[in-house]
Amino acid sequence: MTGGGGIAIHGVGMTFGGSRSVTALDGIDLHITSGEFVAIVGPSGCGKSTLLRIVGGLLDPTSGHVDIDGKTPNQARRDVEFGFVFQQPTLFPWLRVLGNVLLPDRVLGRRNPNSGPGSKDIARELLRDVGLEGFENHYPGQISGGMQQRVALARALSYGPNTLLMDEPFGALDEFTRDRLNLQLLEVCNKTVSTVLFVTHSIQEAIFLADRVVMLSPRPGRITRIAEVPFRKPRPLEIRYEPEFAALAGELRGLLEGVDDDEMALDRP
Ligand SMILES: Nc1ncnc2c1ncn2[C@@H]1O[C@H](COP(=O)(O)OP(=O)(O)OP(=O)(O)O)[C@@H](O)[C@H]1O
Ligand SMILES: [Mg+2]
Repeated sequence: MTGGGGIAIHGVGMTFGGSRSVTALDGIDLHITSGEFVAIVGPSGCGKSTLLRIVGGLLDPTSGHVDIDGKTPNQARRDVEFGFVFQQPTLFPWLRVLGNVLLPDRVLGRRNPNSGPGSKDIARELLRDVGLEGFENHYPGQISGGMQQRVALARALSYGPNTLLMDEPFGALDEFTRDRLNLQLLEVCNKTVSTVLFVTHSIQEAIFLADRVVMLSPRPGRITRIAEVPFRKPRPLEIRYEPEFAALAGELRGLLEGVDDDEMALDRP
């Protein structure tokens, strides 16, 4: 791979057409440097998924543009520089765990830099990294939701993307599973991927994982705050109980006061 992964978002806006047009995003400017882990938080419907899809070349913005190390998002996507992980793991039920992780290898063929005789070994190693050693031959229906999401993560990493784009990947999981996957994600990213853009409803999760947390306003989503997270990595889960962590979480939560969003309310102590 190119060793890239920097993302420059310039004045991006998105208005969905139709008889009742909806402006989802307005004037988003953000520069994510290669190697950074950036979390996007904001109330439901503020345009987080829309922004992720624009960065990943799945949707064209109606204003502004995104630059991925000199490429358009579409070009970067075609050059398989992105790994996508969504809220639902979207595994193929008739393929075993290993088959699901190897699927991009088969679909992408030579566009996949990890393809070739070693691809099975890479897939097995990734499954080990996400704690799924011994489950290679299970079917998705035979493993839990958290395990399925780990398969989806291993699959996204299997073709060596520069950038991981994650849209509430752990939102459907219980708190303990989410904690464990947060730790594994930091480990595995540290080893294999350079840049991560991570959408979440949870301020705690955002601060725990990210180098910077970007807060969006209610729709149309605009950046209201970019917070640097002052903790070095690797981070133990216990940092969440430190006063500095609580102060930052409190400050970010304060920006959402008055925002009518039940899911955000769940995040409050
Ligand atoms: N394809 C589309 N056509 C029309 N409107 C859309 C489309 N996709 C998203 N929207 C609208 O754009 C706004 C932002 O949607 P988006 O899914 O990006 O929000 P979100 O911040 O990810 O919300 P959530 O936290 O609930 O996932 C919403 O009002 C949504 O209805
Ligand atoms: Mg969303």
